[in-house]
Amino acid sequence: MENRQQWGTRAGFILAAAGSAIGLGNIWRFPAVAYENGGGAFFFPYLFALLTAGIPLLVLEFIIGHKYRGSAPWSFSRIHKKAEWLGWWQVAISFIISTYYSVVIAWALSYTVFAFNLKWGNDTEKFLFGHYLKLAETPGQFGGIVLSVFIPLALIWIINLSVLYKGVKKGIEAANKIFLPTLVVLFLIIVIRAVTLDGAVEGLNAFFKPDWDKIADGKVWIAAYSQIFFSLSIAFAIMITYSSYLPKKSDLTNNAFITGFANSGFELLAGIGVFSVLGFLAQQEGVPVSEVVKGGVGLAFVVFPKIINEFPAFNAFFGVLFFLSLTLAGLTSLISISETYVAGIQDKFGIKREKAVFIGGGIAALLSLIFASNGGLYFLDVVDYFINSFGVALAGLAEVVIIAWIVRELNQFQSHANSVSDIMLGAWWKICLSIITPLVLGYMMIDNIRTNLK
Ligand code: PHE
Repeated sequence: MENRQQWGTRAGFILAAAGSAIGLGNIWRFPAVAYENGGGAFFFPYLFALLTAGIPLLVLEFIIGHKYRGSAPWSFSRIHKKAEWLGWWQVAISFIISTYYSVVIAWALSYTVFAFNLKWGNDTEKFLFGHYLKLAETPGQFGGIVLSVFIPLALIWIINLSVLYKGVKKGIEAANKIFLPTLVVLFLIIVIRAVTLDGAVEGLNAFFKPDWDKIADGKVWIAAYSQIFFSLSIAFAIMITYSSYLPKKSDLTNNAFITGFANSGFELLAGIGVFSVLGFLAQQEGVPVSEVVKGGVGLAFVVFPKIINEFPAFNAFFGVLFFLSLTLAGLTSLISISETYVAGIQDKFGIKREKAVFIGGGIAALLSLIFASNGGLYFLDVVDYFINSFGVALAGLAEVVIIAWIVRELNQFQSHANSVSDIMLGAWWKICLSIITPLVLGYMMIDNIRTNLK
């Protein structure tokens, strides 16, 4: 595509890619997943998954975007004329995710404001479900949009779409250059305070204590691979879209390594921070750490406010820091998820970015209102479950099978990357993509179907 917008700097691209990878998943998913799947022992399957699938696939997606210079549907249609659907499949998954991911960021934004006077009170669970979300007793009782969620949600969409509207360099790159470094600084402050709290050591012990028996369990390996795919934003059309804005002369392989390690570094940092404060909470409540471990919505919006309440000093300050971090981590990911369909629509219909933002973003924003209703959390759980069970593994599997086995482009792609990168791709890269990744993803898909049929 001629006159395609481009990143202004290499750092800008890396920040944007890392900003996409570093999201809610790093903060509320990774710590609990690692803990449940062997603690310290989980690092082996995790690192293995990162090196055999995460980074190789990231390199592959960077190559695809860079080589075909287009959105995911466009790029896949160049790889094979019957493969355009795969691009749209990935874009569709991202589209759906954006409709509820935005809602969670909206909650985080609300909680940033609540933190100023610890508005959630002592019963943080009742506050979240009853007072804030106004969750219906049963999913059937639809009672309309909840205003307290609607307002921050509208704000999040305004920010997200204005960034996209401004384009790659002035919008996405500029936003990530501010949001991501800010996030890292805020988060570091929290982690430094967290590890010095009473009880932090017990929390960290619980987190790092290796349960070696778990390594023999296939489920632990699946958990590692799933975490890597989700966390690195792979097979969501995201990284292909972002790399399509790279200038011709751009390092690909090294950039993928940097992005991958930055993401895992942040993940580890989040694990340390989260388990330190969980250890602190366990000590305050006089219970073992295992009793306070949680992930997801419960961790962020029920357990964290509780922890903030118990903080020895500067409660409001740390509350604001935490929820602002969550908001920023989420925003940079939301921007990347939404850019997949903005770019997809632009390429397909030959319309301007501004119009694509209006149409794609507008529809997504409207749909997100479903999750801002008083039944929102029920819908969110269901949709998230389906996307994770049926969407992602198929998207990744089709991607590697088409490229490695149907069009057999890996050799060409390898030379493409090697002609521009510092690090040379060797045979290991092709083995990972043609054998290891398809096997793992195939197994993952069968396993998902099996558990769902039960
Ligand atoms: N990787 C990001 C996260 O960990 C964002 C993301 C979420 C990307 C869901 C794709 C799908 O939260």
